[in-house]
Amino acid sequence: MVYKTKFILNEQLVETDCAPGMLALDYLRRQEWKTGTKEGCKEGDCGACTVLVGSLQEDESVRYEPVTSCLLPLGELEGKHLVTIEGLNMTELSPVQKAIVEEGGTQCGFCTPGIVVSMNGLLMDKSKTVDLEGIKYALSGHLCRCTGYRSLKSTATLLSERLGEHLTADDRLSSLVAAGALPNYFVEIPGMLREIAPEPITSENGNGLKKADFLIAGGTDLYVQAGEKIPDAKVQVLNLLPGMKGINRVNGHYQIGALTTFEEFGNSPEMQEVIPDLGHFIHLIASWQVRNRATLSGNIINASPIGDMTALLLALESELILQEAGKERIVALKDFYKGYKQMDRKKSEILTAIRFPAPAPGTKINFEKVSKRTCLDIASVNSGMLLLVEDGVVGKIQFTLGGVAPIPLLLCETGGFLSGQPITLENARRAIEITQEEIAPIDDVRGKADYKRLLAKQLFIAHLTKLCPEKLKVREFYDL
Ligand SMILES: Cc1cc2nc3c(=O)[nH]c(=O)nc-3n(C[C@H](O)[C@H](O)[C@H](O)COP(=O)(O)OP(=O)(O)OC[C@H]3O[C@@H](n4cnc5c(N)ncnc54)[C@H](O)[C@@H]3O)c2cc1C
Ligand code: FES
Ligand code: FES
Repeated sequence: MVYKTKFILNEQLVETDCAPGMLALDYLRRQEWKTGTKEGCKEGDCGACTVLVGSLQEDESVRYEPVTSCLLPLGELEGKHLVTIEGLNMTELSPVQKAIVEEGGTQCGFCTPGIVVSMNGLLMDKSKTVDLEGIKYALSGHLCRCTGYRSLKSTATLLSERLGEHLTADDRLSSLVAAGALPNYFVEIPGMLREIAPEPITSENGNGLKKADFLIAGGTDLYVQAGEKIPDAKVQVLNLLPGMKGINRVNGHYQIGALTTFEEFGNSPEMQEVIPDLGHFIHLIASWQVRNRATLSGNIINASPIGDMTALLLALESELILQEAGKERIVALKDFYKGYKQMDRKKSEILTAIRFPAPAPGTKINFEKVSKRTCLDIASVNSGMLLLVEDGVVGKIQFTLGGVAPIPLLLCETGGFLSGQPITLENARRAIEITQEEIAPIDDVRGKADYKRLLAKQLFIAHLTKLCPEKLKVREFYDL
């Protein structure tokens, strides 16, 4: 059977029989000759290949997200709108392009198309503000090596002055079209997407899970690891399967669809209620484009000892719901990893959801990450902590560390020691000693073992002093 993918490319409907595992970037540049989308690192790091993917929402509006096309499988575009730099161009410079020119935000221009696309993504996203913070969010996945970022950041003021009320309109997209900030064809897109909406997948129409060499979720790990092999292999694009998204509260648990992306997790009001600083934590992970693709299940099944979401989900006492041939089983995340990249999972098992108990009132949660760069960098060491202090003593503690052992670690001995104890400097110092006995970091590209031991200590101090500022101060640990 020939696999076809039907989607809208800028203003045109296309149907292609190119392999579903082919990269959208390669399709654009080699099949469509849309060379405005640049090929830089091909690993999600530089942002030169950024495109917008629009999908029809339940309320019939279209939500656009910037993603890196060098990690995006073509098959994922089924029923969606793919927007490249060519699709944002108009007869005159758009407000974004004009602002970049006026502020001197481009020189060699290689990074510029991707940056224009992300900045348009910011304008089109009604949950974001077009100010310095918003522009920084939009630029987090872009490298520019000749102009620098100051002039790009200063476009925020120009854009918010010039587009003013259009950025707060209820229908932000139509308003931006009316303002001449987006081409007119954007208003036709919801209707066009309705016409090509994929038929729902059922077991009867045989479009369910197929035997595949690669199960692709966001593809942000897979394409970096096996990008050369995937286009010629049999792939299953997991996002085409139903029922693996969304966040619900069920019987005292939060249940999260395994294909929930980092951005969806970070923007979820339910998760923000559980973890009030979540917005800040999420900003420390990958970039806007990668977070729009990267899923929780990919982070867990990739089994990296420094997976950021894994460290957080471990602190939340998560369990994994795994399915194979209609049979379901549940495994605690703390018991899931058996060794470096080894898991309690059969190759054919699908992770369908993650769940964790709703934390008791008064529970506080923190996440820490140390990496060379703030944005778009993998951790040297990361850490999560869930802490409940009741009647002056620790009622519950879940302390996790990544990057200090072959697997993401829940520090059971440290937690066991602190449980039932008051938070005091003496207890904290003893807990740090126990942590050092529980971890076994190695020297690698992200740091020497001694450095990681030091980070484990510093992150523990950071957790306790942030979560219990009335009990402990950072300076007390250093006899200042
Ligand atoms: C530029 C860049 C920056 C990054 N920054 C960070 C960072 O800061 N922090 C961080 O933790 N990670 C980071 N990553 C790594 C990556 O984004 C994450 O690990 C992400 O969670 C992977 O998810 P995915 O959906 O893209 O997985 P994929 O690449 O699609 O899949 C990864 C593995 O999981 C399997 N899989 C996925 N879902 C399922 C499922 N439901 N059932 C069974 N198997 C499944 C796949 O078959 C594959 O083996 C970065 C990656 C890139 C490219
Ligand atoms: S080419 Fe660098 S992020 Fe895609
Ligand atoms: S303008 Fe040259 S890399 Fe950004």
